[in-house]
Amino acid sequence: MDFLKPRYTPMNRRRRIYEGKAKVLYEGPEPGTLIQHFKDDATAFNAKKHEVIDGKGVLNNRISEYLFQHLNDIGVPTHFIRRLNMREQLIREVEIIPLEIVVRNVAAGSLAQRLGLEEGTQLPRSIIEFYYKNDALNDPMVSEEHITAFGWATPQEIDDIMALAIRVNDFLSGLFLGVGIRLVDFKMEAGRLWEGDMMRIVVADEISPDSCRLWDIKSQDKLDKDRFRRDLGGLIEAYSEVARRLGILGENENIQATGPRLVQ
Ligand code: TMP
Repeated sequence: MDFLKPRYTPMNRRRRIYEGKAKVLYEGPEPGTLIQHFKDDATAFNAKKHEVIDGKGVLNNRISEYLFQHLNDIGVPTHFIRRLNMREQLIREVEIIPLEIVVRNVAAGSLAQRLGLEEGTQLPRSIIEFYYKNDALNDPMVSEEHITAFGWATPQEIDDIMALAIRVNDFLSGLFLGVGIRLVDFKMEAGRLWEGDMMRIVVADEISPDSCRLWDIKSQDKLDKDRFRRDLGGLIEAYSEVARRLGILGENENIQATGPRLVQ
C-alpha cells in the first residue's frame, strides 16, 4: 500500500526537537525559531489518564494564538511569532525555566484540596505558586528558596516571572470577564530569550483551556480541561464555546478536526 502514502510529507523531514504530552516542537525555518505543533492528546494525573480528543489541538492552537498575540500587542513579551496552520505556530526558541507558574484567583483544584477550601471561594488576593516541572516527581510544589538554591532561576528572574504572571493574570481576567467567563486559575511557563548578549524572560508554552480553569459566569459550567480530568464530557463543545466567545470561531462554526495529523 506504499503508493497510498504521500510522496512528500514535510513533517517527516523536520527535525523533532522535543515531544511533550500535548505538543511537539520542531526545528523552525530560521535559527532561533521553532515550530510548536498541537496534538489532540489529553492527559491528566501525570499522564496516567490519556485520551485522544479529535480537534482539541486545533482549538488550543487558535485560542493560544489569540491570547499570545494580544499579550504581544499590549507589551507583555512572549515566545509567539505567528500561527502557521491549523495545528502549528512559529515561536522563538527560548530556554524554558523548569517551573509551572500557577496564578489563582478563586479556590479550585489542588489548592481547594490542600487547604480544605470550598471550590469557588474568591481568594483574598491573587496567589502565585511554583511547581517544579518534573513528571517523574509529579510536578511538586516548590518555594522561592528551592528555586534559587537549586539554581532553576535567580531571585531577579523570579521577580520578573512574578511581574509577568500578574500582568498575564490581569489581562486574561479582564478579557474573559468581558465574554462572561471567570478566570479561576491558570498555569503559564516562562523562558529565557537571548538576543545577543541580552536576555529577557518571556511567556512561553501555551495558554489555552488545557492550562486554565474557565467557568461560565452565569451557569458556572466548566469550559476547560476539568471536563476531561473529571469525566464530565463535552470537552470540544466547551473549548469551542471559549473560541466562539473570543470571536475566533463563528457563531455556528464548528472546528474541523481533520487537519494535518502528526505522523509518528
Ligand atoms: P491545580 O489546581 O491542579 O494545581 O491546577 C492549577 C492550574 O494549573 C489549573 O488551571 C490547571 C493548570 N495545570 C496545568 O496546566 N498543568 C498541570 O499539570 C496541572 C496539574 C495543572
